[in-house]
Amino acid sequence: MKTINWGILGAARVNQRLLPAIENNPHSKVIMLASRRDGAAEECIHQYSKYPSEVKASQDFDEVIQHPDIHAIYIPLANEEHTEVALKAIQHKKHVLIEKPMALTKKEVESITQAAKDNNHVVVMEGFMYVFHPQFDFIQQMIVSGKLGQVQYTHSMFSFPIQPARYYRINRSMQDGGGAFWDIGPYAIHTLRQIMGGHIKQVNASAKVNTHQADMSTSGILEFTDHRRATFDISFECVRRSEFEIFGDKGRLKCHTVWQHEDDEALVSYELDGGKTTTEKIPKGNHFDLEIDHFVDCILNNKESDKLSMGDAVQQAATMEAVYQSIQNSQWVSV
Ligand SMILES: NC(=O)c1ccc[n+]([C@@H]2O[C@H](COP(=O)([O-])OP(=O)(O)OC[C@H]3O[C@@H](n4cnc5c(N)ncnc54)[C@H](OP(=O)(O)O)[C@@H]3O)[C@@H](O)[C@H]2O)c1
Repeated sequence: MKTINWGILGAARVNQRLLPAIENNPHSKVIMLASRRDGAAEECIHQYSKYPSEVKASQDFDEVIQHPDIHAIYIPLANEEHTEVALKAIQHKKHVLIEKPMALTKKEVESITQAAKDNNHVVVMEGFMYVFHPQFDFIQQMIVSGKLGQVQYTHSMFSFPIQPARYYRINRSMQDGGGAFWDIGPYAIHTLRQIMGGHIKQVNASAKVNTHQADMSTSGILEFTDHRRATFDISFECVRRSEFEIFGDKGRLKCHTVWQHEDDEALVSYELDGGKTTTEKIPKGNHFDLEIDHFVDCILNNKESDKLSMGDAVQQAATMEAVYQSIQNSQWVSV
């Protein structure tokens, strides 16, 4: 079977997770990694690659994008840089895995969708690894089975105190892609959309911003067209929380650690029909490996992802954009 040669754009920290995941896939080989900073690509390759001598370092993104032997490109750049680079890669007929958030606006995601269609229907996917974890399958089965009844409300929480080494994330405004909202907000909001299903009518959110106009904490509410609600709370100031809780009319379920590292325990607790709480230990899964396996399967079988479709990416961007506007204007915003 064909080998997928990968290029990576950016010596980002998340390569610690994704570079080994790509290398763990039996049909994949990372052949190039580029960073605009002197020596950063070499350092990243030596830190995270299992086969450093096989990965060429570059300082030129175009060298990767135009490389005739590269089939797929992973984009872990700063959020506001994703669209321009993705469009360029797609125009060179590369399959593209884009870190979340795919882009900062619905219009940008639509332009990426159109570009993919216009260029041999290359596979493009937003990197929400958590949907590939076995615990997420378990939770979706609980919902589909009707054990929780009709899901009426979900609450998601993601927080950790931001470390000084990461202050560059909060020293630029939300408008320029800075702050907690663009960084960890996509997870909290995407999860609500996945669990609740249906269409969002309007959103309302409020943020506490720092002197750079980057949000340190944001809370918000999503109202669905059938009047069900979901809420999220994200923060760079609170202790670590990486969880969500679902409330149906027959039961409730809590996922204790969701946007997690591969070695974290996967615990799900639920209470059905007013009975005792049951806590299940779900087998651990490396969701980064599973994400890459799924993306590669889509490439090899020439199909769009059914788990993270471009339609989902457009709706996700529309929701994020509406929440951002609500924060700016202190009012409900239609999606
Ligand atoms: N899926 C996940 O679990 C996960 C986790 C974290 C982040 N993310 C997403 O992945 C993307 C990258 O996040 P990240 O936290 O890994 O990013 P990061 O380390 O801040 O790097 C982002 C980009 O900024 C540049 N950069 C890195 N360190 C820098 C420094 N010290 N000074 C100046 N520039 C620097 C790099 O480009 P150059 O090398 O070209 O300079 C890099 O590609 C984002 O879209 C984020 O939302 C996903």
